[in-house]
Amino acid sequence: MRDLNTDTFAEQQQQRARTTCIFSFTGGIALLWIAPRYSDMVQCRILNRKSLYRIGKVFIRKTAFLQRSLLSASIVSTNLYVSSANRIIDHSSRRAAADMASPLRSLVEDDERYLKSFQLFLERSSEHQCMHDFIQGILPGELASVGDGKAELNVFGVGSGSGDIDLEMFSQLRQKHPSVTVDNQVIEPSSQQIHNYKVLLSKTPDLDYIKFTWNKNTAAEFEQHWKENKMSKKADFIHMIQMLYYVKDPDATVRFFQSLLDKNGKLLIILVSGRSGWGKLWRKYRRQLCNTEISQCVTTRDIKSGLESQGVAYRSYALPSHLDISECFVEGSEKGELLLDFLTEVLDFSRTAPAELKAGVLEMLRQPDCSVETDGKVIFNNSLEALVLDPLP
Ligand SMILES: C[S@@+](CC[C@H](N)C(=O)[O-])C[C@H]1O[C@@H](n2cnc3c(N)ncnc32)[C@H](O)[C@@H]1O
Repeated sequence: MRDLNTDTFAEQQQQRARTTCIFSFTGGIALLWIAPRYSDMVQCRILNRKSLYRIGKVFIRKTAFLQRSLLSASIVSTNLYVSSANRIIDHSSRRAAADMASPLRSLVEDDERYLKSFQLFLERSSEHQCMHDFIQGILPGELASVGDGKAELNVFGVGSGSGDIDLEMFSQLRQKHPSVTVDNQVIEPSSQQIHNYKVLLSKTPDLDYIKFTWNKNTAAEFEQHWKENKMSKKADFIHMIQMLYYVKDPDATVRFFQSLLDKNGKLLIILVSGRSGWGKLWRKYRRQLCNTEISQCVTTRDIKSGLESQGVAYRSYALPSHLDISECFVEGSEKGELLLDFLTEVLDFSRTAPAELKAGVLEMLRQPDCSVETDGKVIFNNSLEALVLDPLP
């Protein structure tokens, strides 16, 4: 954004220099053309009024001098103006190059800060509440047919985090299939999250029917390992909840995990909806905020259009949710800064983002497209969407 504006400013300077150049030369030539005629006119009057002869001569000399001086001055100033405009252009190009050389760092590069800001996001949002409603209300219907009567169900949790949502889903799965055992593969790259998941397990009773296998891997590493080892195991239920932002190619990731589904298996994807404040923010600031190495700014709108272009059917469920972002507008608030990091997915956004980008993002976050203001609070539209896919035909 800032680069664009700087370029525009430099172009304006160059345009102004060109215009000045044209005006100066035209002015100089006009002076050359007018001055001799003016001198003739003055000389005529001098012939009639001899007393003014001397003054007239001096005036003519001065006019000629003035004409030459004006012309030289216009050439010199035009050159100065053009070279200064070029310097501005050079400077802005160098600045743009410098900006490209040091892009904003992604929040996921700092696991500790990521977890801190995610935790705060969960506290300030109805994210898990809306998932809870979905898991109680809709998911049981989807899970009813999985397994096709098998005694053991294979479940893959991709980006399970600390496992709270996983355990809620297991409870519904258990209610639908009370006599099954579960082989659960947790695919989670963060050791801290795996640790938190294990702590949660240690505090949760009645999970003996589940066998946990810990894969400290990203989805891509897991896929590579799966392919290299020519694994053939099929899954009955795979979920990837709020994690497709962190893969390079979300469509390919979805395709791979969908290909692992057994008969009657289900793949559950939950992401922010294209209509949420996130979708609006990312449509405007994708170039500045989103890391090119990972998808980050993906919404269910992107996933749905990928599926539709391949003719893959899905069922979609809206999960209305909100997030209180009021603290983001309190200058110097540590929590506000953490939330801003999570919203932008940029590490230390408040300190490292260019002032113009920061102001633009803060302004956008307050707009009705993204938030509503009630009782002095700024409530961001955090709406999610769940997509459920069946096995590939
Ligand atoms: C926003 S959290 C969601 C956690 C959990 N699913 C939930 O909804 O509470 C995203 C999780 O994805 C994990 N993650 C990040 N990059 C990943 C990747 N490339 N593959 C799999 N998981 C990833 C993170 O460590 C984190 O635990």
